Amino acid sequence: MSDDTKPEGSAPAPAAKPAAAPRPPAAPIPDLAGKTTSIASAGGAAAAKPAVAKAATRDADDTSPLLNRRAWMALAWGTFSAASAAALAATGRFMFPNVLNEPPQQFKAGFPNEYGMGVDERWKEKFGIWLVRVPDDIEQHASGFYALFTICTHLGCTPNYLSAENKFKCPCHGSGYRLTGVNFEGPAPRPLERARVSLSDDGQILVDKGRKFQYELGQWKDPDSFLKA
Ligand code: FES
Repeated sequence: MSDDTKPEGSAPAPAAKPAAAPRPPAAPIPDLAGKTTSIASAGGAAAAKPAVAKAATRDADDTSPLLNRRAWMALAWGTFSAASAAALAATGRFMFPNVLNEPPQQFKAGFPNEYGMGVDERWKEKFGIWLVRVPDDIEQHASGFYALFTICTHLGCTPNYLSAENKFKCPCHGSGYRLTGVNFEGPAPRPLERARVSLSDDGQILVDKGRKFQYELGQWKDPDSFLKA
């Protein structure tokens, strides 16, 4: 049928609409902090969740900044723990110091009749003492025993007893002491010291290094510095 069949005066049919053009992507929307958020990302909170879940399960060989931060935290905690353990150990060491195996301060030196006159060196090595028996002591004016410390009063070396010269001689700087213990040569500033000497309950000579007597202080007059026998 041709247009001629249309009734006269009827309006012409509208032209068909052209196909809609594709919409351009939404422009980024700046927020208050100046960041831009696209509609796709803003509306996709759910879409962000998989990313977080993925970050929590990173591979061991992932060298991203997040893993490095964790590594540094672990290192810091390890260092702190090691330092704390060391401090604790040092405190424990301070609370339980080493035991010093020093020889006892007192010892029994046998019976008086086991000694002759003069210097006896049997206790020098073990106890650092010379036991001397004399017929007339310079301070006690009696026969008996005194105990001399084997420590030079200059700088603490151990003198030797020279029986041929009847004296004690220090090998370090040459100080000399008479049998009484009084110094007479070298740099020693004062006589040797004496230890307490007495008779124990069983009749043996008892030497007590815990008590000292100094000649220059008049202490050799003390009865405890000499055992009459
Ligand atoms: S330590 Fe004995 S003379 Fe110096």
